[in-house]
Amino acid sequence: MRLFVTGGCGFIGTNFVYHVLRERPDATILNFDALTYAGNRANLLPLEDEAAATLAAGREPRYRFVRGDIADPRAVDAALTEFKPDAVVNFAAETHVDRSIDDPAPFVTTNVLGTQTLLTLAREHQIPRFVHISTDEVYGSLGPEGRFTEHTPLAPNSPYSASKAGADLLVRAFHETYGLDTVTTRCSNNYGPYQFPEKLIPLMISRAQADAPLPVYGDGENVRDWIHVEDHCRGVLLALEEGRPGAVYNFGGAAEMQNLAVVRAILKELGKPESLISFVKDRPGHDRRYAMDFTLAGTELGYAPTLDFAAGIKATVAWYLEHADWVRSVESGEYRSFMDRWYGERT
Ligand code: NAD
Ligand code: DAU
Repeated sequence: MRLFVTGGCGFIGTNFVYHVLRERPDATILNFDALTYAGNRANLLPLEDEAAATLAAGREPRYRFVRGDIADPRAVDAALTEFKPDAVVNFAAETHVDRSIDDPAPFVTTNVLGTQTLLTLAREHQIPRFVHISTDEVYGSLGPEGRFTEHTPLAPNSPYSASKAGADLLVRAFHETYGLDTVTTRCSNNYGPYQFPEKLIPLMISRAQADAPLPVYGDGENVRDWIHVEDHCRGVLLALEEGRPGAVYNFGGAAEMQNLAVVRAILKELGKPESLISFVKDRPGHDRRYAMDFTLAGTELGYAPTLDFAAGIKATVAWYLEHADWVRSVESGEYRSFMDRWYGERT
């Protein structure tokens, strides 16, 4: 199995590359990533080292990295021509909701135009399968009851989720119009190793370790359905191998929690006081609640989450404590200037 994985240097992509190479001894991966502020090539350096040794021994390596932009047709075309994949798995995206509020433009370029570019070239190259990684945020916001199913109408509320919904509709259109074999996955909030420290969980771990205030938006009662990234990776691999052409599958962790409860769990794990919690101005258009019905993935793919939140958050806090160097290395100047501007305006 030859996989053209985009965005493999980001949080979920990194975990997916390791997951697939571990679980599928016949898999070979080309990781195509633009290395934006969120992409970290060093996450997969052990694989590059292994690949160099394999090449020196005259064999094809199981992993290779190409720096490229999914919205650049020439770069995508060249990489596909050379690698000849059996499938594209598209993780590449601008992913942070707050950044999309600050500046929607890169979200449209990468998430919409980039996905269209990949779809067009996948069709030209007659690639047998296109797996598109999407999000529960395309469904909008829930009240206190109910869950999103694959039939819930799309109602995105942020520039990020609108751009993801745009991409999802293009994937659908390429299946309906051209018969491209596509599968779309929509997942809830991931957590685990290698998550960039702008997202709630790694940000709160970093801040709490430094005894800095933890900025909780609004009343802190917004609800997310947390899934460990390893469970999401298993779901994507199932969708890739078993998914019905044209299908959409929801994935969730069956772990609905208010943000405040998540933050308190982190403080408890770190032995830090709740007085660090600081309520700040709410995120504009902040979705109140997400919850996933993933019955279809259970029935058609045999998917069920395996890691509960209590065990998952313990392991995740431990990972961040052991990888303080990693956190420091990804906190670039660009990261700091966004964080200073965004949180400076909220406190
Ligand atoms: P991330 O921000 O950690 O990583 C994104 C990666 O994509 C980075 O390596 C970046 O360099 C790369 N990238 C960005 N623009 C690119 C471009 N134009 N061309 C090539 N590469 C580019 O993201 P993540 O959290 O790992 O999310 C991965 C995917 O999963 C995204 O599509 C996201 O919408 C989706 N998703 C994320 C979550 C979550 O909780 N993190 C949940 C559901 C779905
Ligand atoms: O639901 C899936 C989505 O989850 C993915 O599609 C997105 O790519 C990913 O970023 C994530 O989006 P969220 O907006 O839900 O994640 P974030 O970590 O930014 O925020 C989680 C919750 O915590 C949300 O209700 C906002 C709140 N929050 C976040 C930050 C960064 C705070 O209260 N304070 C903060 O400083």
